[in-house]
Amino acid sequence: MRAYEIVEIIENFAPKELAIEGDNIGLQVGGDLNKEVNKLGIALDPSLDVVKKAKKEGIDFLFTHHPILKNPIRNFTGVIYKKLKILMENDIILYSAHTNLDICKNGLNDALVELYNLKEVENLYENGLGRVGIFEGSFEELLDITKKYIVENPVIVGNIGRNNFKLAVLSGYGLSQDAIRYVAEKADVYLSGDLTHHSKILAEELGLVVIDGTHYGTEVYGLKKFMDYLKDKVDCEIISLDF
Ligand SMILES: [Fe+2]
Repeated sequence: MRAYEIVEIIENFAPKELAIEGDNIGLQVGGDLNKEVNKLGIALDPSLDVVKKAKKEGIDFLFTHHPILKNPIRNFTGVIYKKLKILMENDIILYSAHTNLDICKNGLNDALVELYNLKEVENLYENGLGRVGIFEGSFEELLDITKKYIVENPVIVGNIGRNNFKLAVLSGYGLSQDAIRYVAEKADVYLSGDLTHHSKILAEELGLVVIDGTHYGTEVYGLKKFMDYLKDKVDCEIISLDF
C-alpha cells in the first residue's frame, strides 16, 4: 500500500480541518508519499525511544497522536537531531493526527463517551474538544470502569453520592486551572489528564469532582480503537510502539 493511501484513510477518519488553530498536524517528516508501505507503526508520542523502535521494527510509516514539535525551532540539535537522523536515514514517514483525532466522530473523545455509555452527549468546548453527558450509574461504577480500561490507580478528587450525574471527559491534557473553572460550570465530575496540585485545590474549592485518568490513559484507550479501525482499512502490517 502506498503512503498517500494511508494518509487518505487517516484524514477521512480525522479530517484535518477539525484541528484547533495552531496545532501541528499532518505530515511531520517525509519525502515521498508514493513510497510503498509494508509496515505501519502506531504510537502516542514520537519519542526518541519510539523512533528507535520504529527503525528496529522496519517501520515504513509511523503514525503518532502527538506531533514531533509543538512550537517552531531554529536549530536542529540534541534530541530532535537524533530523531530526524533516524527517521531520514531509514526513510520513515512520520504523520500525526492530534486534536483532529481527539475531536472527530469516533475519535479519542467519543471513545470515552462510548466507554462510559454517556447519554445526552454534547461537546464540552465550542471547538469540539471534550464531551459532556449523563453517566447513568454510581461513582463507584464510574471508578470501576476507569480502573479497568483507563488507568489502574487514578487520582481522585472528591466524591459524588448519587447516580445519574453529569460527566465531562477530555482526552489528554485537560486539567489546567482554567479548564477546572470552565468545567465546574458544566459538569459534576470531570475525567481527563495531567492534574496539578493547584488544579486539585481549585476543584475542591469549586466542588468539581475530578478523576485524573492520566494523559496517557485517557488517550491510549481511544488510540487502540483507532488502531483497530486502521487494521480493518489498511492493507499492511500494523504494530503499536508505545502502548
Ligand atoms: Fe495529548
